[in-house]
Amino acid sequence: MARVFSGIQPTGQVHLGNLLGALRHWVTDQDDHDCLYCVVDLHSISLPHDPAELRANTLEMATVLLAVGIDPERATLFVQSQLGGEHAELAWILNSVVFMGELSRMTQFKAKSEGRDSISICLFDYPVLQAADVLLYQGERVPVGDDQRQHLELMRDIAIRFNGRYGDTFQVPEASIPRQGGRIMDLQQPDRKMSKTDGSELGTIWLLDEPARLKKKVMSAVTDSASDVRAAADKPGVSALLELLSITTGAPVARLEDELAGQGYSVLKKAVLEALVEYLAPIQARYRELSGDRAEVERLLRRGTDRARELATPTLEAARDRVGFLPRAF
Ligand code: TRP
Repeated sequence: MARVFSGIQPTGQVHLGNLLGALRHWVTDQDDHDCLYCVVDLHSISLPHDPAELRANTLEMATVLLAVGIDPERATLFVQSQLGGEHAELAWILNSVVFMGELSRMTQFKAKSEGRDSISICLFDYPVLQAADVLLYQGERVPVGDDQRQHLELMRDIAIRFNGRYGDTFQVPEASIPRQGGRIMDLQQPDRKMSKTDGSELGTIWLLDEPARLKKKVMSAVTDSASDVRAAADKPGVSALLELLSITTGAPVARLEDELAGQGYSVLKKAVLEALVEYLAPIQARYRELSGDRAEVERLLRRGTDRARELATPTLEAARDRVGFLPRAF
């Protein structure tokens, strides 16, 4: 089974873009891959943050991942900082084959540092830590959103360069970017991606939104002044709703267009609402159950940590050896 690795930052809540764009695939990948999923809290200190909030959000994100269907019997679910420093150590080693110029060109670095007068080295080095995350486990496939394309290219370059300089050490990973649902749009601004930081309040659907709130958001979604239910480049709002309906029901967009032809936008919105409520209900129920049992979440995470450490150790030892460090207990 091919090894899959992906990571997610412990931001507070998860929105529909995270769920349908990424996490949904994490869940299905478990069926036929050896999956590692990591809450990447080391990445979260690259921007100013509140320590207590980070700690709470880390556990919260792990709970969300379990709720959406990450199954600790089949996948390795763990928190990055819970290992004994393996990720950071490999990042340090990889730093020796990465150039300032490449990191300066990362569009995410440019976007996140824009307008700040002090930029941490962590933010600059973020993509190298991300490379270490995957290379440490010989990851083959990396399911990510389309905004991570450049980081994945760099990760491959780093692996190839290290292997070239020191001899074969790392699997060269491949990005796996979903064709459908990679971009879930803001319901109020359908030309923009749903986003935690610069989304609109009504246009952003959160994983834990209850039906009444979902109704308010879906029924007020921006469409256009025509009335034909059809996906088209000049109909971003309607296209986004059709895409949502397609993902949550499993029906292709073309079939939905046929079924909804001549029915108007309020019928479309009601269908989207119903599908979303049904899609989210079991996730929300599991979330409520797990968030009342913190000890169980911690137990599952400890298991993940143990397995992750076991998998990481041989690769880290090989990398240390390749660059010329003495064995640990000489
Ligand atoms: N940078 C990724 C994001 O913002 C999160 C991440 C960290 C990640 N390490 C990773 C994703 C390793 C995939 C593999 O989405």
